[in-house]
Amino acid sequence: MADKMIPTIHIIGQGVIGSLLATSALLQQLPVQQYIRTKPAKHLNHTKQLNHTKQLLHSDNLSVQWLSGQTVELPEPYFLDILSPSNEQLSGLVIIPVKAYQVANILAQLQGKLAPDATLVLLHNGMGSIEVALRLFPNHTIIAGTTTLAGFKHHSIIKHTAWGQTQLGVVSEHKQGPENNLSKLAPPSNLAPKPEHISLINLVIPEVTWHDDILTPLFTKLAVNCVINPLTALHDVRNGKLSSPRLFGLITKIVTEVVAVALTQEVLLDNVALFEKVITVIHDTKDNYSSMHQDIKLGRKSEIEQINGYVVALGIANGVDVSQNKSLLQQILAIEKAAY
Ligand code: PAF
Repeated sequence: MADKMIPTIHIIGQGVIGSLLATSALLQQLPVQQYIRTKPAKHLNHTKQLNHTKQLLHSDNLSVQWLSGQTVELPEPYFLDILSPSNEQLSGLVIIPVKAYQVANILAQLQGKLAPDATLVLLHNGMGSIEVALRLFPNHTIIAGTTTLAGFKHHSIIKHTAWGQTQLGVVSEHKQGPENNLSKLAPPSNLAPKPEHISLINLVIPEVTWHDDILTPLFTKLAVNCVINPLTALHDVRNGKLSSPRLFGLITKIVTEVVAVALTQEVLLDNVALFEKVITVIHDTKDNYSSMHQDIKLGRKSEIEQINGYVVALGIANGVDVSQNKSLLQQILAIEKAAY
């Protein structure tokens, strides 16, 4: 791509995935800007705000240790509220790899701040934000996906540990049906992604595969998260401990509910294949503590409402039995409530 034609990559958030994507862009000399969400004090200019927030966060600039050996110091981020010193609308790619419960707020904050040609990329655990994005940005191309790109953060250092697989698809043509229904009308879309945006995504995100129906991989990942995340948090164990046959009955019930709920969205999943997928992920990530385990352990808010909570909301709206997912939702919410 000739330099002047390369669209900017805007990455919202400074979490692990956002910082890994920023590093990938910097290493390839692609134009990238990262944004943090801290609400700025109105009386401070951009530079003073940045210093002020750094003091609050006690943080230096983040460094990323890339899997292939390089260490990259990330440049200072912008503030989402200010966007950029020139306060222009964002064009190019706007990637939102943040916690699921932060996405709706970020999308609301981005309203009126996206240039018409911007492409939104949603990349997080759990579900529910596609509906919000479709409602708030009906005229923008929206891409949603799930990734196993991985790393971990220790103080101001992020260590990249796996390239993973990232599955993406365009959702702007999934029109919202009746309330609580993501049914696909699939009309010919005038919101097809720009080829230069697709090329840029393929450059900046490692190991991308594209799906015509991204809802299938998304509901598959949802089932994986519905099982592994709350069970590891409740039993205080690493993922691998869930491979005990005495949990198979419960895992089957959780998966069966997700399959039934997915069907209400015209997403056809297979019970047996999905159970096997969950068990495979449990084996492949056996030494990991799940993200929900870490959140609960550290007394942080978890993504339960966007994971089992999403299944429960869709199940209730569509008359599907979701009692196992509901029980997990209630147990995790009770722990969160007790922690505050
Ligand atoms: O949320 C997580 O931790 C991950 O999505 C997964 C797949 C459950 C592995 O730990």
